[in-house]
Amino acid sequence: MIKIPAKKEITQHWYFEKKGIISQHRNLKSQSDLDSYEQERRDLFTDKLALPPSAFTNSQLLEFGPSAGENAIVFAMWGASCTLVEPNLKAHPCIKKYFEQFKLAQKLVEVDGSTLESYSKRQIPDKKFDFIVAEGFIYLVKPDPMWIGFFSRIIKNNGFVILNYCETFGNFQELFLKAIHSRMCKLTGMGSVEAAGKWFGAKWNSIPHTTTMESWVADVLDNPTVRLARFYELKELCTNLCNSGFYLYSSWPPYKNSLEVYWAKKMPKPKEQLESQNEFIERSRLSHMFGRKHFLLKTGPEMEPSIKELLTLTDSLIDEFDRDKAEKCIEHLGSIERLIGSDAVISEPKDVKETLNAIKSIKHILNLLIAGNADDIAAFCSSDKAFIKSWGMPTHYAVFRKGSE
Ligand SMILES: C[S@@+](CC[C@H](N)C(=O)[O-])C[C@H]1O[C@@H](n2cnc3c(N)ncnc32)[C@H](O)[C@@H]1O
Repeated sequence: MIKIPAKKEITQHWYFEKKGIISQHRNLKSQSDLDSYEQERRDLFTDKLALPPSAFTNSQLLEFGPSAGENAIVFAMWGASCTLVEPNLKAHPCIKKYFEQFKLAQKLVEVDGSTLESYSKRQIPDKKFDFIVAEGFIYLVKPDPMWIGFFSRIIKNNGFVILNYCETFGNFQELFLKAIHSRMCKLTGMGSVEAAGKWFGAKWNSIPHTTTMESWVADVLDNPTVRLARFYELKELCTNLCNSGFYLYSSWPPYKNSLEVYWAKKMPKPKEQLESQNEFIERSRLSHMFGRKHFLLKTGPEMEPSIKELLTLTDSLIDEFDRDKAEKCIEHLGSIERLIGSDAVISEPKDVKETLNAIKSIKHILNLLIAGNADDIAAFCSSDKAFIKSWGMPTHYAVFRKGSE
């Protein structure tokens, strides 16, 4: 009999294996499929993360959680020799097939079936890497100092750690979608995928995604590991990495204070850079929540606790809908609405309009959830333009560089 872990202890690896999910962005069938995916990654890495393909030439790269290996095959195209650590053994044949199909088998050093946790406990040979990559799961590996200390031991000086993860504030809207979905499945008794199509179909079809609605339902809406307690709070993440000798090299969205101007030859000390970054991050909370520029003129003691409470309440609605908590969410949203509409926030007029419309829709949906009429909720979610358009900034990328010892 399969042993089902307690909800809090469910790992993404366990959930994916149980559901038979092999996470994929594309189904790379031909060279032209791979070329178009490579172009997408090239744009992201060159323009947003300042790591052009040439940076990977003749490098040693270690990737954790590569799933089917779509990202790894692109790193290999750019010249990296890839060591891949993927605990979902069902993904291994896909990885090997891709490397053979695209004539890059000589770039595949090893495919290991461990988790990051068990790999880190094994006796690691003296090998050090130019790049360590962990996309799509690292925020679930706790405690953070465990993997950070491990990465610090096996990365070369000046080597890069590339991360992609769920961020706390950017996930407000994703948590809200999960809360709607959970309430609606209970109200209608419908199965998850069919149900999601009914109220989120229009929203899902409004973006140029490359994955199916079914995989979004499994990866996000039904995924018990996509929860507030697991997401990264950025100041803490950057501080933990800085304490182990890493500094932020690049990120998307930007965490460095890009408004600062000083002499090109001045190099801020890591602690100075961290302080400046942390302030910039705190002033970008609303931008992350709504996926648009809403930069706070200054940080204040009132706003952040209120947003954090909104996040905690929204997260709790996923487990059990509660009228009082939903009303409290509406109150917090009212405060954010007033703030966004004030001159304490730097925004473009178009963004203010769109975010205020999105907040109005979220408040309306909360009232509909309180009333509990599933048809009204489904009709509103499928037709309201502001709700359909608004996604926030749930996943972030960051590249950290190891300083010289
Ligand atoms: C969401 S998928 C992301 C796949 C790929 N990295 C990407 O970004 O497209 C997460 C992958 O991480 C793997 N994974 C989950 N927990 C892990 C762990 N503790 N150590 C290593 N890999 C893990 C899962 O099996 C899955 O293949």
